[in-house]
Amino acid sequence: MRILHFGDIHFWRLQPDWDLYYPKRVLGLANLALRRRYRFPPHLAWKAARQIAEEEADLVVFSGDLSTMSLDAEFRDAAEALAPLFEKWGERLFVIPGNHDRYTPRSVRSRRYEKYFPQGALPEGKRVVARQVADSLSVVGFDASRPFKVRSNGLFDEGLEAELDAELGRLGGGGAVVLVGHFPYVYPPEVEAAWDHKLLRDEALAELVARHRPAVYLHGHKHIRWALRDARTPDTLCLNCGPAGMASEQPEKHAGWVSFDLSEGGEVGDLCHVHLGDEGVVRRAVEVP
Ligand SMILES: [Fe+2]
Ligand SMILES: [Fe+2]
Repeated sequence: MRILHFGDIHFWRLQPDWDLYYPKRVLGLANLALRRRYRFPPHLAWKAARQIAEEEADLVVFSGDLSTMSLDAEFRDAAEALAPLFEKWGERLFVIPGNHDRYTPRSVRSRRYEKYFPQGALPEGKRVVARQVADSLSVVGFDASRPFKVRSNGLFDEGLEAELDAELGRLGGGGAVVLVGHFPYVYPPEVEAAWDHKLLRDEALAELVARHRPAVYLHGHKHIRWALRDARTPDTLCLNCGPAGMASEQPEKHAGWVSFDLSEGGEVGDLCHVHLGDEGVVRRAVEVP
C-alpha cells in the first residue's frame, strides 16, 4: 500500500477575531504580520494541495495544522484546497487537527475545525479516532492539541493516554497500525525539542508506542522532514512530513510531503521525501532507518 503523508499547510488570513483578548490571538497576529506571512506564501500551500491531488496513493494522511490561527476564513481556504483530495480519496484521506487548529478556547468551543472538516472530526467527546482502511491495516489518529495562552505545546494527558491505550489494545494483533499524531516524541540530535513547542508528557506517548508497536508514527509540527527510529520504540518508524506550505532554501523545510510503501506485515519501503522545486516536483529516495 502506498501512503502519502503531508501536514503543516498553514493557510492564513491577516485579520483579527472576536477573542482578541486572548494573549495568543494578539501575539499570533503580530507574528503573522511581521514574519510568518513571508515564510508561508499562500500560493505554495495551494500548489502543494493541487499537486498532491495528482499523486498516486492508496491512503493519504494529513497530520495537522491546516490553519494558522483557527480563523473561519483560514479553515474555509483549507477546506477548499483539500476538497479535490476528499473527492479523490474519500475515506482514504485521514485528517487530524494540529495546535494551530486549536488556537483559542473560543475557536475550540465553537468547533470550527469540525465545522469545516467534518470528515476529520473526532467522535463527540473523543480524542482518538480509528479507521480500518484495508483488511490488514488500520489508521489511528489522536488529538493532543489544545489552546495554550502563549506557547505552542501539545499535551498528552492521562485521559488521552488511556483512550489511545484502549483503542490500540482493541486493535491488538489485527494487522498493521499507522498511528497519527501532530507532535513528535523524538527529535534528531541536531534539532532542539523546545520547551515551549514540544508535546508535554511525550515520554508517556513513547512508552505507549513501545508497548503497542505501530508500524509507523506519522506527525509534523516541527517544520522539517525526517525519518527516525527511537531506541525506546525500535519497532516503530517515526516520520515527520515537514511543512506543505512553507518556503525555505532547504529542501527538507520547503513545501512538500513524504510517501512510502507499507506492506501487510508493517514493513516500510521505498521512502521518498518530496518538495516543490522551481522546475517541478523533486523526489528524493531516503533510506529507511
Ligand atoms: Fe505547523
Ligand atoms: Fe504545529
